[in-house]
Amino acid sequence: MAFSGMLFPQLQLLGLIILAATAASQPNSNCMQNCGSLNIPYPFGTREGCYLEESFLIICNDTHFNPPMPFLGYGNLQVLNISLDGELRVSTFVARDCYNKSGLNFSNSYSSLTSPNFPISHERNMFTAIGCDTLALIGNIDGKNYTTGCLSLCDNIESVDTGYCSGIGCCQTSIPKGVTDFIVVFLSFDNHSKVLEFNPCDIGFVVEENAYNFSSLDLTNFKNDTVPVVLDWAVGNETCLDAQRNSVSYACKAENSTCYESNNSPGYRCNCSSGFQGNPYLLHGCYDINECENSNPCDKECHNIPGSFYCNCPKGYEGDGLKNGTGCRAKVSQSNLIIITLCISVGLLVLLVGGSWIYWGLKKRKLIKLKEKFFQQNGGLLLQQKLSSHSGSMETARIYSAEELENATNNYDEKRVLGQGGYGTVYRGILPNDKVIAIKKSKIGSQSQVEQFVNEITVLTQIIHRNVVKLLELLTGRMALSFNMPESDRNLAKYFVSAIKDDRLLQILEDNIVNEGNIKLLKEVANIAKRCLNVRGEDRPSMKEVAMELDGLVIMEKHPWGNANVYTEETEYLLSAPTQSFNIDVDTNFSTSTTTGYDSMTNQVLRPLDGGR
Ligand SMILES: *[C@@H]1O[C@H](CO)[C@@H](O)[C@H](O)[C@H]1NC(C)=O
Ligand SMILES: *[C@@H]1O[C@H](CO)[C@@H](O)[C@H](O)[C@H]1NC(C)=O
Ligand SMILES: *[C@@H]1O[C@H](CO)[C@@H](O)[C@H](O)[C@H]1NC(C)=O
Ligand SMILES: *[C@@H]1O[C@H](CO)[C@@H](O)[C@H](O)[C@H]1NC(C)=O
Ligand SMILES: *[C@@H]1O[C@H](CO)[C@@H](O)[C@H](O)[C@H]1NC(C)=O
Ligand SMILES: *[C@@H]1O[C@H](CO)[C@@H](O)[C@H](O)[C@H]1NC(C)=O
Ligand SMILES: *[C@@H]1O[C@H](CO)[C@@H](O)[C@H](O)[C@H]1NC(C)=O
Ligand SMILES: *[C@@H]1O[C@H](CO)[C@@H](O)[C@H](O)[C@H]1NC(C)=O
Ligand SMILES: *[C@@H]1O[C@H](CO)[C@@H](O)[C@H](O)[C@H]1NC(C)=O
Ligand SMILES: *[C@@H]1O[C@H](CO)[C@@H](O)[C@H](O)[C@H]1NC(C)=O
Ligand SMILES: *[C@@H]1O[C@H](CO)[C@@H](O)[C@H](O)[C@H]1NC(C)=O
Ligand SMILES: *[C@@H]1O[C@H](CO)[C@@H](O)[C@H](O)[C@H]1NC(C)=O
Repeated sequence: MAFSGMLFPQLQLLGLIILAATAASQPNSNCMQNCGSLNIPYPFGTREGCYLEESFLIICNDTHFNPPMPFLGYGNLQVLNISLDGELRVSTFVARDCYNKSGLNFSNSYSSLTSPNFPISHERNMFTAIGCDTLALIGNIDGKNYTTGCLSLCDNIESVDTGYCSGIGCCQTSIPKGVTDFIVVFLSFDNHSKVLEFNPCDIGFVVEENAYNFSSLDLTNFKNDTVPVVLDWAVGNETCLDAQRNSVSYACKAENSTCYESNNSPGYRCNCSSGFQGNPYLLHGCYDINECENSNPCDKECHNIPGSFYCNCPKGYEGDGLKNGTGCRAKVSQSNLIIITLCISVGLLVLLVGGSWIYWGLKKRKLIKLKEKFFQQNGGLLLQQKLSSHSGSMETARIYSAEELENATNNYDEKRVLGQGGYGTVYRGILPNDKVIAIKKSKIGSQSQVEQFVNEITVLTQIIHRNVVKLLELLTGRMALSFNMPESDRNLAKYFVSAIKDDRLLQILEDNIVNEGNIKLLKEVANIAKRCLNVRGEDRPSMKEVAMELDGLVIMEKHPWGNANVYTEETEYLLSAPTQSFNIDVDTNFSTSTTTGYDSMTNQVLRPLDGGR
């Protein structure tokens, strides 16, 4: 183990203090700015009149070194770098103890440092030891106040982590705050006898953090004799507040400079105010930072002002102008805003109108399609085909639209109801040409019924016989109008049949029809009609039979002895040109649940002529 310290002659130290006290607080123009590669900023100086106080003396030794080498005047430490942030980088020796096979040390070096004015930075340095049989200790030179250290033991080089100081082969510990001197000593357990092959030496040093990275090769051969250490420097032993009371000795001479306390020793430091840079210890040392030239933080126009800057946006632009802010954006003028708003509004309106137009168009098309579908479903197409195939004799047959029928029945007014069949309701309708018609609004309709209906209608358009028509007119689809029948008894056919059964025929016929002479004829006709109302088709007479019987009645009334000619003429008439029109209700609007059909009456009375019943 070895202890070593370096002491300056007391007389020389005293002289420096006296000189510093009388020296001007600013360096003169002859001061050296450099020593070798080192830049020496004030408050440091190489001679009297150039430093702030004696602790800042840098001795530039140009007699024994070329290039000249700077040393800290108090401590004989080689200066590597001086920073105005309050850091001073110096070079210190590495401590080492090496052993040979006889277990004796054959070479060693000490590491010690004494820097009473500038404490060793506890934040920027680490005490580091390298070895595999090594207990390294660091403490005050006088052995008091503090001792710390670290232990590193290992058996072989393979177990050593390389690249960083992990505790195997290399160990580290921080140093306490405010330490102004240290010495490194080692303890070895086996004089390195067991690890001599790859680790003959104990190595220890205080080093600037991150300036040294451990490598396992350093166990065998650590090459460096010196390592950098960071010292914290500060002015005086006062706080900022105390120092500012004496403006003559106050070190922060520069305008736009600030004072801050040292955190590792008594004393204070100076800094240029924000927005300024330079040397705050010199009278005009802080100068403005031209932010516009340095970093140009502005998006467009940059204006530098003392200690700061501002950004401008060109005319027609707005925003804070900062690159890291909102920058400059093209301004939206009032008139532009109005135009944009207007455009958006108009656009929206057009969109709305167009949209709804298309919507309604599609809906209407759908409706038309639906109507067509229902028209087809309800036999409209079939009817049209049948009617057109008989176009020669169909000049008066017509298909009416739902709207026309609605108009004709005053929107299916209850007052217009003539009768109620099992399949629907019959209304009295008035066409625009004042023609009175009967309109049947069907309730249900199956596909088979539709076909039957279409056939009926087709035939109906052909069977135009004045007697049939007369009879139908007589029965109506007036009785209905003149009698106020109960709702349940609206079925005309039933009513008619029951009237005949009860011998009440004359009661249901209008007075002006009945007279003394035609009662018998009316009864005959009514009997024919009753037969036509039979439920079973086979029980009903064919149209031909009906026509023949009616003709027979007519002939009998006119000529009780008979006339064959009339019969022929009537039959022919029945089978040819029609003189009456039939109004066929083909309602295609499904939503109103009205489909075209036919009631039981027409079903039985109006049947195809050829064997139809
Ligand atoms: C320069 O360094 C040498 C060796 O350390 C020393 O002997 C000499 O006195 C120094 N010169 C000055 C001017 O400090
Ligand atoms: C000293 O440190 C400053 C910044 O801290 C750096 O710019 C400069 O290069 C360093 N000089 C030397 C010689 O290390
Ligand atoms: C190592 O050798 C030096 C002399 O070269 C001696 O002063 C020192 O005490 C020795 N150290 C040990 C640990 O033997
Ligand atoms: C070890 O070192 C000591 C002291 O330097 C020396 O006397 C001795 O001969 C050395 N032994 C060997 C084996 O090198
Ligand atoms: C060491 O301790 C003594 C007494 O406790 C104290 O006066 C002195 O300032 C201390 N030195 C350091 C460097 O801390
Ligand atoms: C280490 O070396 C010293 C001096 O050379 C000796 O006194 C001591 O016994 C040795 N220790 C071991 C464990 O070899
Ligand atoms: C040490 O390692 C760190 C991180 O890997 C790196 O940043 C640093 O420069 C290295 N230092 C040296 C002296 O190699
Ligand atoms: C050790 O020495 C080498 C070469 O001189 C140098 O590049 C390196 O930075 C030094 N390492 C330390 C930790 O000082
Ligand atoms: C502060 O420093 C001055 C001289 O620079 C000295 O006279 C004084 O005793 C110091 N005060 C303390 C508390 O160290
Ligand atoms: C810089 O210092 C001058 C003179 O003391 C002063 O007028 C100015 O306001 C300061 N500027 C800033 C940004 O502190
Ligand atoms: C000194 O001022 C500069 C610029 O204003 C700033 O970046 C730096 O952090 C300050 N230093 C300290 C230690 O306050
Ligand atoms: C933007 O930049 C300015 C000037 O460089 C700086 O003061 C400010 O903190 C930055 N803001 C953000 C959010 O980065």
